[in-house]
Amino acid sequence: MQKAQMIIDADYQIARVEDRLYSFFVEHMGRCVYNGLYEPTHPSADANGFRGDVKELVRSLHIPAIRYPGGNMVSGFDWEDSVGPVERRPRRLELSRTSIEPNTVGLSEFYDYAEEVGAKLIYAVNLGTRGPEEARNLIEYTNHRSGSYYSDLRRANGREQPFGIKTWCLGNEMDGSWQMCHKTAREYGAVARETAKIMRWVDPKIELIAVGSSGMELPTYGQWELDMLDECYEQIDYVAFHRYFRNTETDSASYLASSVSLDEMIRTLTSICDATKGKKHSKKQLHLSFDEWNVLHRTDVERHPERLSMPRPEDAWAVAPALIEHTYTFEDALCMGFLLNTLIRHADRVKIACLAQLVNVIAPIMTRVGGSAWVQSIYWPLLRVSEYGRGVALLPQLKSPVGDCSAYAYSPS
Ligand code: AHR
Repeated sequence: MQKAQMIIDADYQIARVEDRLYSFFVEHMGRCVYNGLYEPTHPSADANGFRGDVKELVRSLHIPAIRYPGGNMVSGFDWEDSVGPVERRPRRLELSRTSIEPNTVGLSEFYDYAEEVGAKLIYAVNLGTRGPEEARNLIEYTNHRSGSYYSDLRRANGREQPFGIKTWCLGNEMDGSWQMCHKTAREYGAVARETAKIMRWVDPKIELIAVGSSGMELPTYGQWELDMLDECYEQIDYVAFHRYFRNTETDSASYLASSVSLDEMIRTLTSICDATKGKKHSKKQLHLSFDEWNVLHRTDVERHPERLSMPRPEDAWAVAPALIEHTYTFEDALCMGFLLNTLIRHADRVKIACLAQLVNVIAPIMTRVGGSAWVQSIYWPLLRVSEYGRGVALLPQLKSPVGDCSAYAYSPS
């Protein structure tokens, strides 16, 4: 039998693990919000239309923060549609998923829901079809006390006190050609800088997350961060990065070793942040926000259209079409466990991570309309890190047999 040895010493500390490493992402996509978290006709629904059985499962994860409301949809989203009397809110074409956004659940409703389950909102602004002006108006609405147009509009809408949202995403996946009003890194960096300046003038206490790469496979990966940070390093606090690990692209061993590649990505992005810090003679240190991540189990989509990421043409323009509803296996849960360990090992630089998504859409919690709610295999590693992965991360010294797989070969450093 082969032996492995691990030495752990309480003095070899990496950093305190931020609670927000165990955050989630909720998007107005598929059945995450509508017919997922929110189903007013369900027997367990509360007075606000949110399902009680789902709420209990959400609560069990002790979620510190929820990134909201998107996602790709946010790049075409008008936040004004989501406030004020529900019956006056417009139904809109949600172009990123050829569906209909009814705006029944909006800023105020979701803020209250998050608060009820003990989570803070991390709110994403639209830097796709919109820009600095809307972001300014939005933060005036959410964070300014009173005495101005948008803060008084909030009060007229029944919220006397500001929401006080602290953490904001400056857009979503603007490096991707699939994004509405996709930008080059320099274009995005300039918009992010100016939006950040304006938002901080409204509320200096906020923290800001700039869009980093949406995957390592993108041709712009790395260069995006170099150019973008060159434009806005001093104005932001975190660089976001997104990653979805697919079981279908590799053999089992390589899939399970996905954390090797996550480790490399974190090291690269941290180095770019620090290189920019040096180049700019800055005193400021940036951190990373892994604000969309998950494992994907995308198989057999021909027989399961609900596993597709876009509605079929015949299903277009529906409210809450079932999308990317993956069924997870034990292997996916194991892979997720390795990825979570990797995040903990980088607790000194990765301060926020949001599992995408919370309910029905590539999610640990699933629901049936009018029926039951249940958890998938990936719920368990998420629950266990939330219970036990708190405190200070230690740096282990490991001696063990090593093996290669098709995607990664061992190279002693
Ligand atoms: O989580 C699903 C989608 O994946 C999000 O809308 C987008 O940001 C990412 O590409």
